[in-house]
Amino acid sequence: MPVDVKSSPALIDVPGGELLLGHLRVFRRQPLEAMSQWWRRHGDALRFRLGPKTLYLFSHPDLAEEILVHQADRFVKVYEPQRPTGLALVLGNGLVTSSGEVWKRHRRIIQPVFHRTRMAAMAERMAEVGEQRLSGWTAHAGRSVDIADEMMRLALEVISHTMFHTDVADHIDHISHALRVSLKYAFDSFHSPVRVPQWVPTPRNREFRLALQYLDKLIYGLIAERRRTGAQYDDLLDLLLKARDEETGAELSDQELRDEALTIFAAGHETTANALAWTWYLLATHPEVAARFHEEIDRVLQGRTPTAGDLHQLPYTRAVFDEAVRLFPPVPAVQRKAATSTSIGGFSLPAGAIVLVGIYHLHRHPAFWRDPERFMPERWLESERPAARCAYLPFGAGSRACVGTHFATVEGPLLLALIGRRYELQLAQEDVEPEILVTLRPKHGIRMTIQPRHQPRQSA
Ligand code: HEM
Repeated sequence: MPVDVKSSPALIDVPGGELLLGHLRVFRRQPLEAMSQWWRRHGDALRFRLGPKTLYLFSHPDLAEEILVHQADRFVKVYEPQRPTGLALVLGNGLVTSSGEVWKRHRRIIQPVFHRTRMAAMAERMAEVGEQRLSGWTAHAGRSVDIADEMMRLALEVISHTMFHTDVADHIDHISHALRVSLKYAFDSFHSPVRVPQWVPTPRNREFRLALQYLDKLIYGLIAERRRTGAQYDDLLDLLLKARDEETGAELSDQELRDEALTIFAAGHETTANALAWTWYLLATHPEVAARFHEEIDRVLQGRTPTAGDLHQLPYTRAVFDEAVRLFPPVPAVQRKAATSTSIGGFSLPAGAIVLVGIYHLHRHPAFWRDPERFMPERWLESERPAARCAYLPFGAGSRACVGTHFATVEGPLLLALIGRRYELQLAQEDVEPEILVTLRPKHGIRMTIQPRHQPRQSA
């Protein structure tokens, strides 16, 4: 039953669309910029057209709560297994893209791997991987590297070690490239009114197919190897292989295994990597915050590698992470389709309406945040959380909220502390600009100089 939205904004049609294309041209050029401008000019409930598709953009916490929580059963993901588009072209029918009974069953299987009680062991592996990766940084000392790229590699290694007990260090460039190519293709395809069918051998289609073949080979290889050796690691792959349907007793098919494994692989590293890259950028541009961050790490860790147990003594580090994902949420908007006609905040939505919840805007909303554009980690220590439940949604909300929330909130602060203990990162590039490409990433990367820090002596 829809509940009353406390302060319903009016639904505004974004002016200025073209006859056939609507707002497609400006949206495709710069989706984040376009949506932000519309939001600032016209408000929290907008309607616009991308070619034949009409979209609704909601950027008010009460509307977000309606869609993601109270009326969650009336909104489904936009993907159809029989006619895959967008992300489903790559991830198939995995946890991010599926809906209904398949999603419910798979979420039940996968959820336990992320249980809080497993996080200490996971954190130990994250720290091992982090230290190993950092050992390569000594060669970069005093030089500049693309920190966005570096965080992508680190997060990719963390996810492969923790979820699949496998070391991908030797293939990291190839994997990164294949994921980037395939996810960009998927993202672009979603907003293209005219699409060249995949079987036409254009250079882009060929590049996409090769990337997907590479990822399939990697994932099917991991599955085959685990089956062959029968090794048990109690990781995600074990859980997926052991899962049986409660009614029929059937195992997951190879295609289902592939879709879920690739989904965790992709969803589990892009997001965290971008969160970390933006955090380093914000620290480098706010020296007073960086000084307090380093002081906390030095005082608490005394030169040690951080563990999960240290995290509750690093509240400022956690606040830095939380504030960075407020300003640069790795998932800047979530998308749903109305399964039936319904009403939201007093206006009606037809069945099939495509809805975007503007997380980026919620996080910068002047009605809910003091100084919304300012990077102020201390707001998290001073309990300055906005009263509205859905004003802060880096991990989404409701039943489809991020399954990796605990994992990411351990991984993010842990890797920040691990790196910040040894290095200070200084900005070495001027044009840092966010763009949406599935996640919110720095368009031209972020070049930063790696400066080794004086280390406090390890206590006995
Ligand atoms: C800072 C890091 C992360 C952020 C900001 C983030 C954000 C999100 C958001 C907003 C959603 C909801 C999408 C929607 O409602 O449509 C989501 C879903 C999901 N995330 Fe994350 N995520 C992060 C890390 C991770 C990690 C580490 C994993 C796995 C290891 C992961 C796996 C997933 C999966 C599988 C879903 C789909 C859940 C479902 O629909 O049942 N994420 N994430």
